[in-house]
Amino acid sequence: MTAYTSLYAGWQANPDSYWAECAKLIDWDKAPDKIFDGATGPYGAWFPDAKLNTSYNCLDRHIAAGHGDRIAIIWDSPMEGKLLKITYTEARDRVAKIAGALRKLGVSKGDRVVIYMPMVPEAAFSMLACARLGVIHSMVFGGFAPPELAARISDAKPKAIIAASCGLEPGRLIAYKPMLDAALELADHKPEACLIFQRPACQAQMTPGLDHDFIAAETAAEPTDPVSVEATHPLYILYTSGTTGRPKGVVRDNGGHAVALAQSMKTTYGVGAGEVMWAAADVGWAVGHSYVVYGPLLVGATTIIYEGKPVGTPDAGAFWRVIEQHKVKTMFTAPTALRAIKQQDFAGDYLRKYDLSSLQALFLAGERCDPPTAVWIQKLLDKPVIDNWWQTETGWPITSRFLGLGLTPFKPGSGGRPSPGYDVQALDEAGEPVGRGTVGNLCIRLPMPPGCGPTLWQNDEGYVSAYLKAFPGWYRTGDAGMIDEDGDVWIMGRTDDIINVAGHRLSTGAMEEVVASHKDIAECAVIARSDEVKGEIPCGLVVLKAGVERDPKQVEAELIALVREKIGPVAAFREVMVVPRLPKTRSGKILRAAMKKIANGEPVTVPGTIEDASVLDQIREAFAAVG
Ligand code: COA
Ligand code: AMP
Repeated sequence: MTAYTSLYAGWQANPDSYWAECAKLIDWDKAPDKIFDGATGPYGAWFPDAKLNTSYNCLDRHIAAGHGDRIAIIWDSPMEGKLLKITYTEARDRVAKIAGALRKLGVSKGDRVVIYMPMVPEAAFSMLACARLGVIHSMVFGGFAPPELAARISDAKPKAIIAASCGLEPGRLIAYKPMLDAALELADHKPEACLIFQRPACQAQMTPGLDHDFIAAETAAEPTDPVSVEATHPLYILYTSGTTGRPKGVVRDNGGHAVALAQSMKTTYGVGAGEVMWAAADVGWAVGHSYVVYGPLLVGATTIIYEGKPVGTPDAGAFWRVIEQHKVKTMFTAPTALRAIKQQDFAGDYLRKYDLSSLQALFLAGERCDPPTAVWIQKLLDKPVIDNWWQTETGWPITSRFLGLGLTPFKPGSGGRPSPGYDVQALDEAGEPVGRGTVGNLCIRLPMPPGCGPTLWQNDEGYVSAYLKAFPGWYRTGDAGMIDEDGDVWIMGRTDDIINVAGHRLSTGAMEEVVASHKDIAECAVIARSDEVKGEIPCGLVVLKAGVERDPKQVEAELIALVREKIGPVAAFREVMVVPRLPKTRSGKILRAAMKKIANGEPVTVPGTIEDASVLDQIREAFAAVG
């Protein structure tokens, strides 16, 4: 038996005692007597009678243990040309004062605060300041356009908003404040106050009566002690793409989250106090929440907030420079970032310039890592390359290989074995497990382990219908895949309209809603095309309304601009084609899967139910024309 199989078997034999043991990794104000209550919420609640504060667990307790001088956060910003090292004491002092500033604005336990900030330490401090007060934060990624920010503000109804004046992308400045102002015009909820963090690159115009300077408010505030909250109290809401244009507000609770992340730092990532973990992910995504901010700080490690790209800031050696300079033990990134490096430095000339001896493993998630990229980087690094499969909803890996437990074997293309806490099965449409090696709906047996979203924000019903209804007793991940003879899980793709563009989760349905809103469009479909760097990119096929006689190129340009304006640049919607008709079944269902195959140069089996097979030839010709 390996350490992994014995830990997994131990969890299976007695989940409550497994999680009770993991709960010892956390300092509780009231330790849990009851581990799980199956009677609350869509599938139950973890540690229902316990109390804690997450900010205390991330900061104060390490200082109390004598480690206040350890580095908590390294801010490495090639974009601003800055490097900052912040100790645990310094971080706690800033967080306590930012919490004081929020309190002065009347924000208290249970209120929501939307945070709209790029990769600056103040983003992490703001999250932790909310956690300190029992305030529920909701981060919004900077690549979204004002309507997406407005949708999140309307749903979360924040009492206050914390925003930066701008973000810095290579070659351009993203003025966040005008986007916030535009979002507030669109939202059907208005906050009582906004704290604006002015960056040197751009001074935002302040709205009198609403906006307050972040630093001035922090400086003037009294430091605030952590507020003890129920383990089940929400820590944050993180919106993610669902199958409609309306984003889903995944809720994360305080107690289960702290326990799950602390144990994953130990067993999965093998990182402990005083060691350096670097997740090169934006704080606006789940990976950023779990492994830039909360996970490393919960265990007293050092985390890196990197404001830069894998290539171009300044070159394809950027990641390896950070690893050498900060002695990174474990790194985490998305395969798309590696593909961007691979395209520019296939031979590894940049990589070999740096001393990577501190690095023990490279973790990948956010999308499937294609085997050629996994093998390429594994050979260059000569270290374990570990694909782990998870989602915003779970908040930590469903499957992985386990650095802290001796590794399960490296199988390029597979997501590894289930983490203790997850019973993963591939189910057929009737909800029965399919055999090993057969593709099915990847599902997790209920209850979900601690740390997974217990519900959607004020929407238990939405949670049940999105995840629990299809297969009673199971959580439907929305991914299709199989489990092989060894028990390794292979993720093959989504069963819904979600696509993964450069590691960013997007809904083609949401893009279709935007495209369909253009006055000249009769009908449309948005499908995913394979892309060498981004994995997938969206591609629109549109039919003009009868009688519209416009230059198709002009309509296409308008549609690209419209998706950028409504969803944001992150959608990377750059391809759209006007076609005479869309292929459909006789009952009127658009054959998106067939078009996707054509777009990706794969053979298409013409469905027997097709209304007119010649339409597929027209689509083929349209793709052949653009190459
Ligand atoms: N704020 C504002 N705009 C942003 C942004 C942000 N935080 N992040 C991306 N954008 C913009 C980009 O500037 C780009 O704009 P453009 O159309 O004007 O060029 C657009 O959104 C698309 O960005 P992206 O798809 O990220 O492409 P890119 O060419 O800028 O970078 C990669 C490609 C691979 C380097 C980058 O996508 C990457 O590092 N991805 C990793 C994703 C990740 O960490 N995911 C989390 C899961 S681990
Ligand atoms: P997100 O919620 O943005 O993290 O996206 C979650 C989705 O990304 C999953 O449901 C999968 O479709 C995909 N995904 C994430 N990690 C992996 C992985 N390691 N392998 C395959 N797909 C992945």
